[in-house]
Amino acid sequence: MKSYDSIIIGGGVIGSTIAHCLAEQGLHVAILEKNEIASGASHAAAGLLGVQAEWDEYDPLYDMARKSRALFPKVAEKIREKTGIDIGYEAKGIYRIAHTEEEWQRIKEIRTWQIAAGEEAVLLSSEEVRKVEPNVSSEIVGAVYYPTDGHVLAPALTKGQALAAAASSAEIFEYTTVLQIVVKDEKVTGVQTTEGFFPCKQVCITTGAWSTPFLKQFNKNYGTYPVKGEVISLKSNRPLLKAPLFLKRFYIAPKRYGKYVIGATMEPHSFQEQVKASSVADILQRAFSILPALQDATWDRTWAGLRPESNEGRPYMEAHPTIQGLFVSTGHYRNGILLSPFVGEYMANKMVGNYVY
Ligand code: FAD
Ligand code: GLY
Repeated sequence: MKSYDSIIIGGGVIGSTIAHCLAEQGLHVAILEKNEIASGASHAAAGLLGVQAEWDEYDPLYDMARKSRALFPKVAEKIREKTGIDIGYEAKGIYRIAHTEEEWQRIKEIRTWQIAAGEEAVLLSSEEVRKVEPNVSSEIVGAVYYPTDGHVLAPALTKGQALAAAASSAEIFEYTTVLQIVVKDEKVTGVQTTEGFFPCKQVCITTGAWSTPFLKQFNKNYGTYPVKGEVISLKSNRPLLKAPLFLKRFYIAPKRYGKYVIGATMEPHSFQEQVKASSVADILQRAFSILPALQDATWDRTWAGLRPESNEGRPYMEAHPTIQGLFVSTGHYRNGILLSPFVGEYMANKMVGNYVY
């Protein structure tokens, strides 16, 4: 069996992006995926690049998210050049809206620290919002417009990263489940899979919500758990919205071909990916209260996915302190799509820097 420099376990957005960055740096890379590329959380994601929409308080990940958001124009261009895939990058901003006076006060507080952190955040009255987005409910109190936030098509981004990695000579093995990372004398020697043994010098664990068994080998306290999110998609022949609306972790995002992606629920510790009828009813009710014109839209589809949250509430992105060739990058929770360009470069630099010839 041929030997690889680096094996990436898991073909979600994180694994595919790291593979692409490593392959561009000249390493011989393989992605091993138990299903198909972009079949986990990265398939379910709404694709919001919501640095300002998602961060209510400052933390160190905020700076990483800002840097990552800034990389998207180049990522979109490179993937299109290398694969012909359009990742659906839209840079029309995001509106964070307030339905009550309490929410209005809160989003104004958030705006204050974000402006101090160097972001743009434009305060708009209900009437001002409706001048640019006339279908938004007149019941809203106001909104803050974040012109620098945006969105992409998450499955297209993920497949684009994997195929761009392949264009730089990475190999992709789908329907190949990794059973065990094999370590001898404190060095990674390969991975045992359902399709046999793959020898390699480096392994990166990017298995999202399913990472706990591999993480225990990394650090006995580490683990990820799923936070299930249910989403619906509606379609309309009449344009209803130019940019996504965001309200307390709920959102309506206009997508290509007249689609509107709406969600998402948050259910920790559920590995079950069915969509409950009651969740659909709740999502529709909330969506109609913000964008009443959606009542005339027609049904497209629904789905669910599992956000990977870590036991520590922060992503794990590191090299093992003593086992040569063992790396992890998982636990990006609600923002793995947004963070992926930065994480890809960060992890690839770490892996290339630690590569032992
Ligand atoms: P995944 O995409 O889950 O990939 C992990 C892969 O590992 C899977 O394909 C799985 O099959 C594979 N795998 C697992 N075990 C094995 C094994 N033993 N062997 C081989 N392969 C294995 N983020 C944003 O930035 N913006 C958003 O708007 C957004 N919206 C979201 C909406 C929903 C409903 C959900 C669920 C998530 C959303 N997210 C969003 C979060 C984002 O989807 C995740 O943070 C991101 O996709 C995680 O990527 P990943 O590659 O770590 O995990
Ligand atoms: N970031 C959007 C979500 O996780 O639903």
